[in-house]
Amino acid sequence: MSVIEQPRRQEQEGATRHVKVYRYAPEDGGARYDEFEVPVEGCKTVLDALHWIQLHCDPSLSLRHSCLHASCGTCGVRVNGQEVLACVCELADLEDEIRVEPLANMPPITDVVVDMIPFYKGLPDPHPILRVSEVLPDAQPPNGLDAYMRLEDCIECALCVSACPIAASGTGFVGPAALVAAGRLLEEPRGTDREEVLGWAGAPHGVWDCTTCMACVQACPAGIDHLPAIVDMRRALVEQGDLDPLLARTLQNFALQGNSYGRSARTRARWTKPLDFKIPDARTEPVDYVWFVGDFASFDERATLASQRLARMLHDAGVSFGLLYEGERSAGNDVRRMGEEGLFEALVEHNLGVLGQAEFEAIFTTDPHSLNTLRNEYPQYGLDKPVYHYTELLMELVMRGAVALTPTLGGTRVTYHDPCYLARYNQITDPPRELIRATGCELVEMPRHGSNTFCCGAGGGRIWMSESDGGVRPSEQRIREAQALGDIDYFVVSCPKDLTMYADAANTIGAEFEVVELTTLLERAVAGEM
Ligand code: SF4
Ligand code: SF4
Ligand code: FES
Repeated sequence: MSVIEQPRRQEQEGATRHVKVYRYAPEDGGARYDEFEVPVEGCKTVLDALHWIQLHCDPSLSLRHSCLHASCGTCGVRVNGQEVLACVCELADLEDEIRVEPLANMPPITDVVVDMIPFYKGLPDPHPILRVSEVLPDAQPPNGLDAYMRLEDCIECALCVSACPIAASGTGFVGPAALVAAGRLLEEPRGTDREEVLGWAGAPHGVWDCTTCMACVQACPAGIDHLPAIVDMRRALVEQGDLDPLLARTLQNFALQGNSYGRSARTRARWTKPLDFKIPDARTEPVDYVWFVGDFASFDERATLASQRLARMLHDAGVSFGLLYEGERSAGNDVRRMGEEGLFEALVEHNLGVLGQAEFEAIFTTDPHSLNTLRNEYPQYGLDKPVYHYTELLMELVMRGAVALTPTLGGTRVTYHDPCYLARYNQITDPPRELIRATGCELVEMPRHGSNTFCCGAGGGRIWMSESDGGVRPSEQRIREAQALGDIDYFVVSCPKDLTMYADAANTIGAEFEVVELTTLLERAVAGEM
């Protein structure tokens, strides 16, 4: 549960909150936190608490706000690491300790006030002019008023920019709010030069920089879903052949071989060769579970070792599972997010055809991206079986007593990275943690964890695109966040792409800990190894 989703509390008389406020003045040269004990009575929101501090403790505290009712977008801050509008963030939803900081990825002015000018200047020009309230009969947006209204709701608060991992990289990404404004322009039937807007969106540091991590969507106080606008613009660019050459080649690999690597479909299950047992072919033999392996876990050298470990654990536990072998193609999650809708549908049709030959009860996968589309999108095309992440399946096996984990890894300190497609898209945050704890490891959380995780930078097809020049890659920012915890033995991941991204980043930085897939720890705990 996130820090601002605590159950609403009954306040005791005289209740207070301990508020730590970020203070900064350029002339002082540094930043500090000042701490205040703020009475809850009379202070409903964080903005009320900040006003109380101004009035009773420190009139020099700088704040910005104007409307007090979530419409001017000027009071954005981070509370306990999450982006909020201070005027509607209620103390009743918060813990006793409250940390108030300025929005990230924006130039600081003083205290919690940031410079919004670069944000406003970054919005596309011309600004969308259509207001739903003044829609003329001949000015209906092409995709209908509902789609338009969702984009019109933006109050230009920049909370999404503060939450965005690519904005944090400092490469010059235009940011989610600007892309929403461009999406709105494309829906604007009057006076919009479609080619010009698409040219702006498709330029370097535009729509292709996004990893589809969903942090912006979850931060937005206006309930805007940025991703349909972003993916729609990508679709339009793909249609006109305007995309990164590396990405174009990867899409061709998907089309020809059904995987991002361009390897022959016949080699998909080659990773099973070192196993001393044969995994059943689910197309010819009834099984309880179909393991949808995904491309990375089938072909990436490091990730296949994790696949082998999981196969051995499930085999030893007597679980009935099988593969689709060369019948499996990429599930298409990232293909869809790259804007290749036709190819996505072809992959779905193929995979559903092969799954149709199999007799099984449920699907599991080690790949959060495959999980997302299989679980949430394939049902619209006819899939009617439950889909699990392998950590959910293993946790259930542990609870049933089918897999015994012994806490032999006591004294080992680890941190765990939540993949966006597990934590943000599918709210799967507990099973990996329960499994880690069952091994005896001490789990130390990074500041951004659970549903408030930080993207590795690989999603939405970014892993197949040319690197942006300069800036700090999200994976390197994340490894540094783990380093700041001090004295960590392992950085644990549960996504094959994360293994690649973080092993490379840890290597580049020279991190003192090792990046491991969760199955590395689990295999040792199953075997009772120290
Ligand atoms: S989805 Fe993630 S990377 Fe894309 S714009 Fe939103 S926050 Fe940034
Ligand atoms: S898209 Fe949402 S979070 Fe971003 S500036 Fe607009 S209202 Fe704020
Ligand atoms: S004061 Fe206007 S949005 Fe909070």
